[in-house]
Amino acid sequence: MAKLYSEKANRNMRRPIVKEEIVNYLRTQQKPNTGYLADLEDFAHKENIPIIQPEVSAYFRFLLQTLKPKKILEIGTAIGYSALLMAANAPDAQIVSIERNAAMLALAQKNIAAYDDREQITLIEGEAGTALPALEEMFDFVFMDSAKSKYIELLPAVLKRLEVGGVIVIDDIFQGGDTVKPIEEIARGQRAIYRGLQRLLAAVLRHPDLTVSLLPLSDGLLLIRKNSEDIRLPLIK
Ligand SMILES: C[S@@+](CC[C@H](N)C(=O)[O-])C[C@H]1O[C@@H](n2cnc3c(N)ncnc32)[C@H](O)[C@@H]1O
Repeated sequence: MAKLYSEKANRNMRRPIVKEEIVNYLRTQQKPNTGYLADLEDFAHKENIPIIQPEVSAYFRFLLQTLKPKKILEIGTAIGYSALLMAANAPDAQIVSIERNAAMLALAQKNIAAYDDREQITLIEGEAGTALPALEEMFDFVFMDSAKSKYIELLPAVLKRLEVGGVIVIDDIFQGGDTVKPIEEIARGQRAIYRGLQRLLAAVLRHPDLTVSLLPLSDGLLLIRKNSEDIRLPLIK
């Protein structure tokens, strides 16, 4: 198969934001995947396809078994690994997952046909910015794992489709540590992502109607709980 991702892609997956020995411990001492999830993880690593790291998989097992969501929305399917992991750990949930890349979508369709035994997962092909406003159902758990610069632009549509009390998890917040630096220290090619993440954090971290938590897991997770019906985000340039 032709390489879908270049060797240079996903460099932040290799820049730990906590001590390397802690990352190694999190990745080697927690329960590993078995069966098809382990096979999908191996495939993604061989092809350099960015999927959630083992410590996030362990956290998702815990979180989903505890929250027991019924309606999950994912933005950024890739090969379907995290969707299948969520399906396995939230057996009563229906999952809608959006992916814009046709090659990824074909792999996800194949994997979901093979492993989604309870028929929990529905794939939507397209740009999240177009697909989200067309959704009519409500969700109680959302996983955002798409282009990092655009999270802030997708967030109002995501909040609209989230139940009060629902939770959003957003991946790759710290960008290997770049997020906490002044912009002058950021490579020019990375500044759109940097600016998008700064706008996202400024909009939510102290919002009166959201409960928010930042976790230094993998490249950083942002957790948002919606606490009231009508969430207005401040306009941040
Ligand atoms: C990090 S990968 C997702 C990995 C997957 N969540 C997992 O852990 O198994 C990000 C995916 O999001 C897709 N993507 C990025 N921006 C998107 C957008 N605006 N709309 C839809 N898909 C998007 C990319 O094509 C890519 O396949």
